[in-house]
Amino acid sequence: MIPQELIRKKRDGLELTLPEIEFLVGGLTSGQLSEGQVAAFAMAVYFQGMTAKECAGLTRAMMNSGDTLNWKKLDLNGPVLDKHSTGGIGDKVSLMLGPLVAACGGYVPMISGRGLGHTGGTLDKLDAIQGYQTAPDLVKLRQVVKEVGVAIIGQTSELAPADRRLYAIRDVTATVESIPLITASILSKKLAAGLDALVMDVKTGSGAFMPTHDQSVALASSIVAVADENGVKTSALLTDMNQVLGLNVGNGLEVLETIKYLKNEKVDPRLDQVTVSLGGELLFLGGLVSSAEEGMTRIRNAREDGSGAEYFARMVATLGGPANLVEHWDHHLERAAVIVPVMPAQNGYLVKMDAREIGLALVHLGGGRTRADQKIDYAVGFENFVDLNDYVSQQQPIAFVHARTNSEAEQAILNILKACVIAEEPEKNIQSNCVYDRIALDQDVEED
Ligand code: URA
Repeated sequence: MIPQELIRKKRDGLELTLPEIEFLVGGLTSGQLSEGQVAAFAMAVYFQGMTAKECAGLTRAMMNSGDTLNWKKLDLNGPVLDKHSTGGIGDKVSLMLGPLVAACGGYVPMISGRGLGHTGGTLDKLDAIQGYQTAPDLVKLRQVVKEVGVAIIGQTSELAPADRRLYAIRDVTATVESIPLITASILSKKLAAGLDALVMDVKTGSGAFMPTHDQSVALASSIVAVADENGVKTSALLTDMNQVLGLNVGNGLEVLETIKYLKNEKVDPRLDQVTVSLGGELLFLGGLVSSAEEGMTRIRNAREDGSGAEYFARMVATLGGPANLVEHWDHHLERAAVIVPVMPAQNGYLVKMDAREIGLALVHLGGGRTRADQKIDYAVGFENFVDLNDYVSQQQPIAFVHARTNSEAEQAILNILKACVIAEEPEKNIQSNCVYDRIALDQDVEED
């Protein structure tokens, strides 16, 4: 087979056969397909889409591009569970939920990704922790999952290597926002991890890859269908990404927010709602509780009694990070030199935020990438972001920018102000509820 002929076939909107998809994924993994060919293939899929059969084939081929895990021999006394998000701004839910689910009896081998486009990545956040090994081998992964209950790591070269390369190329070629590519990317990693159950956080709104409700439902349905076909119990919650999730945006600052959340020092209600809802759903799917509501109570208790923080601390230490990160984060998380408030041009209510632009403001500041091989700055970001409909003034800034230099901070402030709309009156249509729907195979879409 000739790669460019297959790329042309997809470009022209024809259906690829399974052997053709396997050939392309083989070339993607071995490096025989050039970066240009991979990018062209991704762009062809972006414009032409894929049939359900092609999408399932792509997912399987990418899953089979490396090892797949089997947990049976470890005799774990609980289900193997995971959560994954389609990507957001300030979305540190995985860092919180992995340890909380482990504290409730689940085993969580969480294979995470780096920042993609304007969204942050769990792996980049973990890299802000000095010493934390995001790429252990599979022997170490098994050991940590068995002993601690949770290990959040990146794709090793052994797990779904096809996605690792495709993900990095999509990130810098404007080919992220595609339902089949997102489905295959997420599920190739998740299916390779040998899960019993998976809960998906499908973001919807200005900062999501799928900004509209209908597109988000289509993405959620695609993921749930392909996962289920492969024997992993999966449901998806549609959650709000019309504003920053939680208080902080930026890798190190999000680790800090995670620590404060798990220690019950600072709990943002929207972030808490998303975390607890996903956790409740996951405990239910894994059979650890008899309803999602009971699961939510268990997750909430695991935060309040401090056990989530203990599991987080143990995971960090076992994977090479500082043993006292939770107590002495200030010794281990780098602080940027310049910290300045983002003052609104006029007093009033923050009624609208272009969350995608906030994500891009972080990328410009150095906290995300514009090239696949770029190093990122873990210390920069935005702290204490207000929520939509909060009152902002000279006494109550929109956020605090953490930057390397004054001029970079000034540019970030301009970018944030451009992304925010301030009005004299609060906006009536902004919901405080940020979990919109649940999508599962056993039922129709539930709307609030
Ligand atoms: N997360 C992933 O792992 N892949 C995507 O394509 C989008 C979000």
